[in-house]
Amino acid sequence: MHKVEEEKHVLITGGAGYLGSLACSHLLQLGYRVTVVDDLLYGGESLLAYLSHPEFNFVKANVCEARTIRSAIDQYLPVPVAIMHLAGIVGFPACQAVGRHVAWQYNVEAAQRAFEQAEELGVERFIFASTYSNYGTSSQDDLATEESSVNPQSLYAETMVAVEKFLQAQAGSNCAPLIFRMAHLYGLSPRPRFDLLVNQFILEAYTQRDLLIYQRGYSRSFMHVRDAVRGLILGLQSEIENVRGQIYNLGSENGNLSKDKIVEVILRRLPETTVRYKDLTFGGDMRDFHISYEKVRDKLGFDTQFTVEDGVREVLNALRSGLIDNPKDQKYRNAKFIVS
Ligand SMILES: NC(=O)c1ccc[n+]([C@@H]2O[C@H](COP(=O)([O-])OP(=O)(O)OC[C@H]3O[C@@H](n4cnc5c(N)ncnc54)[C@H](O)[C@@H]3O)[C@@H](O)[C@H]2O)c1
Repeated sequence: MHKVEEEKHVLITGGAGYLGSLACSHLLQLGYRVTVVDDLLYGGESLLAYLSHPEFNFVKANVCEARTIRSAIDQYLPVPVAIMHLAGIVGFPACQAVGRHVAWQYNVEAAQRAFEQAEELGVERFIFASTYSNYGTSSQDDLATEESSVNPQSLYAETMVAVEKFLQAQAGSNCAPLIFRMAHLYGLSPRPRFDLLVNQFILEAYTQRDLLIYQRGYSRSFMHVRDAVRGLILGLQSEIENVRGQIYNLGSENGNLSKDKIVEVILRRLPETTVRYKDLTFGGDMRDFHISYEKVRDKLGFDTQFTVEDGVREVLNALRSGLIDNPKDQKYRNAKFIVS
């Protein structure tokens, strides 16, 4: 078996999650050694396929605790070139469910602990998956760029903005922080999620033949989870000067779509679905966005390869073929779970 070069080691916190579990397979394919540190809030089946891989390590641990990453590395030397920090309570309903104290501990304090350990260990870069929802509602016609002010509308976004501020203040550290403000994801990964808008709409249209849409004209920004993984890997491989202390919106303008557009794509495959609309204003996370992805295109050469059509096709395939036999199971949603 070919031995992976020592420097090609990446540690992923939250690597059992939707984004992280897919990142594992891409990194292993590229010849990286991968260590996952995850507390398995939604179980660990997503990692089973990698367990026998000689370059894969798993450590079940809570990154809120001090020294978790150091202990994982002490056990699995060498020091990684990068930490991808993907662990957290993801999404505004989940943050609301656990409350401010826990959300802050899991999202903000954990990221701080993780970065501090990265710095102590001599890790070269720290890649953080933040969210475009930090921009909040936008009345402006212009596209939101990385220079636009943030206006978090939910506890989730508040925690993401707090991590961003912390990391930006660390730009002078030896470990280079990099922030991706990712679009809303869709598509399949080893840990499917059906609480993400596109995936949820497909599930409802498929199982109920009925879709109830709030704020139909509102635009959001969407990206296939495989493109998000490609972005993370670009962040890993790009020149360090393009990374250090940088914020990049990650996605593409093609993904700036209204809910109506998403519904249109789903109806093409499930035309018998009834669609009902409600224009209720409900608190928490009202987002109407058009995001610019010029910076990530120009500086890192990133563009998306997959479309909502691809996502709808594959999620529908998984449902129709019975590969996901109980898609309404709570483990496919982040909102209802208990963090003690
Ligand atoms: N999914 C999206 O649409 C989306 C969009 C933008 C940004 N992001 C960001 O991407 C990252 C990953 O999101 P995801 O969709 O994969 O979420 P996810 O909920 O599927 O995965 C999160 C993982 O982190 C683990 N975890 C949580 N707290 C932990 C802790 N304290 N210690 C160890 N493990 C812990 C969980 O067990 C889970 O496996 C997050 O930072 C999120 O903010 C996601």
